[in-house]
Amino acid sequence: MHTKVFKALVVEEKDQVYVRAIKNRTMDQLPDGDLLIRVAYSSLNYKDVLSAIGNKGVTQKYPHTPGIDAAGTVVHSDDSEFNKGDTVIVTGYDLGMNTNGGFGQYIRVPSAWAVKLPTELTLKEAMIYGTAGFTAGISVAKLCERVSPDAGEIVVSGATGGVGSMSIAILAKLGYRVVAVTGKPADYPFLRQLGALRILPREALQDSGRRPLLKAQWAGGIDTVGGPILENIIKSTSPLGVVTCCGNVASADLNLTVYPFILRGVSLVGIDSQNYPMPSRIDLWQKLANKWKPEMLEELYVEKTLEELDDCMTRMLAGKSKGRILVNLQQE
Ligand SMILES: NC(=O)c1ccc[n+]([C@@H]2O[C@H](COP(=O)([O-])OP(=O)(O)OC[C@H]3O[C@@H](n4cnc5c(N)ncnc54)[C@H](OP(=O)(O)O)[C@@H]3O)[C@@H](O)[C@H]2O)c1
Repeated sequence: MHTKVFKALVVEEKDQVYVRAIKNRTMDQLPDGDLLIRVAYSSLNYKDVLSAIGNKGVTQKYPHTPGIDAAGTVVHSDDSEFNKGDTVIVTGYDLGMNTNGGFGQYIRVPSAWAVKLPTELTLKEAMIYGTAGFTAGISVAKLCERVSPDAGEIVVSGATGGVGSMSIAILAKLGYRVVAVTGKPADYPFLRQLGALRILPREALQDSGRRPLLKAQWAGGIDTVGGPILENIIKSTSPLGVVTCCGNVASADLNLTVYPFILRGVSLVGIDSQNYPMPSRIDLWQKLANKWKPEMLEELYVEKTLEELDDCMTRMLAGKSKGRILVNLQQE
């Protein structure tokens, strides 16, 4: 039996108060699974913050180690498809929800959750993308199916956030004209650097009024916030446009009529990265490793240790996060 001690961020529940601390854990505290992975990097996503503050819709049992993302090296495998020394990516499924996650130096998971790291991608790059970048990738893939780069402008909400910033960078790389919607006036230069050609303040889309349709102006949209901004985007999307929806940081509500869909043929596409099917998952990681990889990927993140995550979580919960937060698990 492995007795190696490793470091992990552990959230404990004490009288309905959730306390976070870096603790030593042992291999026998990890769940069953056929792959034992030494985690090199993880990343911080909105869902991790929900898990860390005791959101029972994400994590039901504590003590718990969050982290829906992990990239690292296989140290033991009971599946002949994977060998000791293979480098792998694990995102989504139950990782970091009710299975101890990537904010620990080791994870043990079913091999069905693991993707072999594409040769053109480093472990670090994989986690700069992380679930946010992967979700951006799915959103772009859905949009690309029916909207070509010359169809018009693509609007992206929550633009400075993880999914938003990655979506802008990938869309710009593919030649789309991107309009970013943000609540952070100070970050306009960051958004231009990502490839946004125009930037709108969040207030411009926050009230879509009572009219069922607005002037058509977007060929498509990637929404990461939900609520009135998503309503506004759908009402303003041109005939046959595609709008993707992945998040609810602003609101889970959606007050619409059927008119954008039946009079303009607009499609609203829901995005679920957690259970994205494995064949499509492998295909998308290949795209992210090659043709879709933004040149400035290395400038899209800040690197943190487990000890530094607390402050990042507070900022993310307040909607103040910018770009991606890479978590380095390699320090002893
Ligand atoms: N469905 C899936 O598979 C999936 C996967 C990943 C993430 N998500 C969800 O997608 C959402 C975004 O995730 P993320 O990782 O990008 O989070 P994030 O890094 O925290 O970014 C969210 C961004 O939304 C904007 N925002 C925050 N509060 C807002 C408000 N009240 N009204 C309007 N805009 C607001 C902010 O950007 P600006 O200041 O630039 O506007 C913020 O940076 C979350 O709800 C997350 O749970 C879903």
